[in-house]
Amino acid sequence: MNIAELITGRRTVKKFKTKDVENAIIIEWLQQAKFAPNHRMTEPWRILFVGENTRAELKHKTNFGGASKVIAVLSHKGRNQVERDENLAAVSCFIQNFMLQAWDAGVGTFWSSVGSSALGRNTLGVSEDYEVVGVLAIGYPEEIMEPKARTSIEEKITYLD
Ligand SMILES: Cc1cc2nc3c(=O)[nH]c(=O)nc-3n(C[C@H](O)[C@H](O)[C@H](O)COP(=O)(O)O)c2cc1C
Repeated sequence: MNIAELITGRRTVKKFKTKDVENAIIIEWLQQAKFAPNHRMTEPWRILFVGENTRAELKHKTNFGGASKVIAVLSHKGRNQVERDENLAAVSCFIQNFMLQAWDAGVGTFWSSVGSSALGRNTLGVSEDYEVVGVLAIGYPEEIMEPKARTSIEEKITYLD
């Protein structure tokens, strides 16, 4: 798949097969994902591999669609609001890098906000210095949903003098 096909073809997957996605390949995708742009090389991401007990405690309504693996991706809050915002932006790039590589390998992902609630943070044991940007379900898709329509980008563009 070329990059355009990957970006436009990726879908959020909410129902997964039971087939295992090995940690080794997830770590390989994370190794590539870290080449995300990040201001001042803060490399603000941290990754938690969420085991079965912690996963159950998160009480996700579909148990992450039966995904083989679940990871949480955290962002360091930095020293001020600007760094916090920049770090969040960098971690979002990191997550997209990760999801695209997974998709290229036939593996689907589902980005959940479940980790940002008080219950989610406590369950994951996240310290005050970090925020949970996403909890990612990772697995082979059982079902791939139709693409969701996007507004033409022309409607989002302003040309300045
Ligand atoms: C920051 C962020 C948080 C998200 N949280 C959730 C979530 O809690 N539940 C959910 O169903 N989808 C969540 N999503 C996934 C979006 O709903 C999904 O990307 C969107 O519907 C577009 O679908 P697509 O990814 O298949 O293009 C989240 C996406 C982002 C970027």
